[in-house]
Amino acid sequence: MVVLVSLHGWLVKVPLTPPRGMDDILPEEIPLHRSLVETVRLLFRLYGYKEVETPPVEYYELFAVKSGQEILSHMYVFEDAHGRRLALRPEMTAPIARLVAGRLSRSPQPIRLGYVADCYRLDEPQWGRRRRFYHGGFEIFGSKEPAADAECMVIFDDFLRRVGIKDYYFKVGHVGVQRAIMSAAGISDVDQDTILALLDKGRVEEAEESVRKLAKKGEGGTLFSEVATHPAGPAIATVDELSVRLVGVEKAAKELGNLRKIIKLASQVIEPSKIIYYPGFARGLSYYTGFIFEAYGEGAGIALGGGGRYDGLVSLIGGPEVPGVGFAIGLTRIMQYLTDRLMVKPQPDSPLAFVVPLAEESVEFAFKAAHEFRRAGVPTEFEPAAYSPSEAIRRAERRGARFLVLVGRREAERDVVSVRDLAGRFQEEWRVEEIYGRAEALLSRTRVG
Ligand code: HAM
Repeated sequence: MVVLVSLHGWLVKVPLTPPRGMDDILPEEIPLHRSLVETVRLLFRLYGYKEVETPPVEYYELFAVKSGQEILSHMYVFEDAHGRRLALRPEMTAPIARLVAGRLSRSPQPIRLGYVADCYRLDEPQWGRRRRFYHGGFEIFGSKEPAADAECMVIFDDFLRRVGIKDYYFKVGHVGVQRAIMSAAGISDVDQDTILALLDKGRVEEAEESVRKLAKKGEGGTLFSEVATHPAGPAIATVDELSVRLVGVEKAAKELGNLRKIIKLASQVIEPSKIIYYPGFARGLSYYTGFIFEAYGEGAGIALGGGGRYDGLVSLIGGPEVPGVGFAIGLTRIMQYLTDRLMVKPQPDSPLAFVVPLAEESVEFAFKAAHEFRRAGVPTEFEPAAYSPSEAIRRAERRGARFLVLVGRREAERDVVSVRDLAGRFQEEWRVEEIYGRAEALLSRTRVG
């Protein structure tokens, strides 16, 4: 849809749609979006996360430091009037780490921070992949303990259950294992990032080839390949299979032991069969140093969210040495999953009461009566023009209102309104000064259905 409008005397085309890959959120979609956001906020409260907000625009360098090539090549980057390079945030971990490196650097640790934020990536738009999407995220700074990592998975599990997703599994991995093998073979951190990025893209053979070429000592190449190609399976059993192979490879074995502890802790809450270890798993962001995970819903080939441990990030952006672990829930993708795959029907918000004047002369009184309902906490929509009773009913039903409040000339003269339950349970006259006291009955009626 494109319209022509006049601009400085010229006719220019203005699309009536947002930029490609971005979405308007319409009235019928807002309640579902809001309920996902409210679930995230409830979890902030339940698990002790303090919510923060950061601007959608950041300095480009914040992400350039350690987010990785994959993210950098998909960023919206622009210059401001002073030539400063800015970017629309593609994710929230770096901005939150910036806070911990700066204004929150003196906060007692561990510090738990949460956010609900729109992020922007120049991804090729397709199902579940948009150029503007919401993250609901949780980050813990200041603890290296496996319980902090396990908590992330447990919160995600809690979220999925609360929003009605039952069939899902967690894909877990540990880049600390791969990094330890590569470090022991003398491969630099930068090369490790490149190799992990290849693994993330499924280019396993190229990753193996790079390790073989770059390994300066030991059996790094062989070990790396063994881990990268080891079949995925139930988490604890697969960790135990692999740990036999890592006996004597001290650092890598320790990292694998760390993964085992995390899974053991998380399995007390999450059904163990839902946790699958993929030894060759890596994620697209290069700041990860240890445990990583993603959640997948039945029938969706792309992750509903993910995260992991990033112990070096805060110091890399100029802060103290503070370990971190966290994850982000892909709220936009989850909303699409709920509507397209689980067939959840989005419903617009509807007023509980709908007030309609039946005559021009009763508009004033009806207007005041509508306010009395709102004072009592009843969501009430007012029809500004007068209509016949049958048209009033039609209009109330179209809006999904449960109670229709009619105010005719005779009602206005007697200071009363006529309240009708459109579910057919009652029709009563209420004096206007009674509205405040009696409206609770409307709320409780809808609460019990
Ligand atoms: P991420 O895996 O890039 O991680 O994004 C997290 C989730 O956001 C994805 O699993 C997916 O559900 C959703 N998502 C990503 N890109 C898009 C897109 N183009 N359209 C719709 N949804 C998308 C991060 O961003 C890390 N900051 C997560 C994290 C937090 N790690 C540690 N703490």
